[in-house]
Amino acid sequence: MDRRKIVAGNWKMNLDRAKARELAAAVAARAGEAAATELVLCPPAPYLDTVATALGSAGGSSPSGVALGAQNMHDKASGAFTGEVAAPMLLDVGCRYVILGHSERRTLFGETDKIVNAKAKAALAAGLMPIVCVGETLEEREGGRTEAVVTTQVNGSLAGLTASDLEKTVVAYEPVWAIGTGKVATPQQAQDVHALIRALLGKLASPTLAARVRIQYGGSVKPDNAADLASQPDIDGALVGGASLKADDFLGIAAAFGRHPA
Ligand code: PGA
Repeated sequence: MDRRKIVAGNWKMNLDRAKARELAAAVAARAGEAAATELVLCPPAPYLDTVATALGSAGGSSPSGVALGAQNMHDKASGAFTGEVAAPMLLDVGCRYVILGHSERRTLFGETDKIVNAKAKAALAAGLMPIVCVGETLEEREGGRTEAVVTTQVNGSLAGLTASDLEKTVVAYEPVWAIGTGKVATPQQAQDVHALIRALLGKLASPTLAARVRIQYGGSVKPDNAADLASQPDIDGALVGGASLKADDFLGIAAAFGRHPA
C-alpha cells in the first residue's frame, strides 16, 4: 500500500490575478513544511498560467513540487463549444490534475454521473489525473441513503475506467452538507464512506488496485480538524475550499496529513 497523501486547494471562483500569484508563490516557497504530502493548487481557469509560472510548472514539471490542477473541463478535445476548456489545453498550461464532478458542478450546472464519466475518460486520455468528487446531500444522509447515493455516483462516474486509469484517479468524498458550511463530517463518518468507496473500487478493478487509489475527504477541512481526519486509515488527503485561500491554513492541513504517512 503506497498512497502518498494528497491535499488539493480548490480556490473556486475567488481571488484576482495578483492575489493568485501571491498565494501560489507563498505555498511554493513553504511547500517544504509539508514535504511528505503531495500539494495541488486549483485556481480559476484564467489564472492557471499565472499560477503555473509562480509554481515553476509552466514547462510541465514543477521544481517547487506543487502541482497545478483545474476545476473543470469539457469532455471533447477541441471544437465548437463556446466558453469551455479542453483537457489538452489544461495540459498545455502545466496542469497535472483536474477536479471533476464537484457538487457545485453537479447541483448548479447539471452535471450527471454520465457527464462526469465522459470527462474522466477524456482527462485520462489526455494525460491528466482526475479528482472525481462524490457525496450525499443532508437530505440523503438523513434519509439513510448515503451508501446508495455514493455507490451510484462512484459506479457511474468511474464506469469503464481500466485498472491503469483508476490508479491515476483520485476520488474525493465530499458530503454536500459539509461543503462551505463549517460542519465537518466526524472522522468516523468520513472513514465509513471512504471504506465503502474503496470496496467499490475493489469491485470495479481489484482489491489490490483499490488499495493504491487515493481517496480525499472534502468539506470544511481546517488545520484544527485535519489531524483527526488524517488519522483514519482510508482518508488519504483533503480537497480544501475556503481554507485553501490562506497559505498558513492550507499548509497546516497538508502538514497534518504528512504526519500520517500511508
Ligand atoms: P470547503 O470546500 O473546504 O470550503 O468546505 C470544499 C470543496 O468544495 O471542495
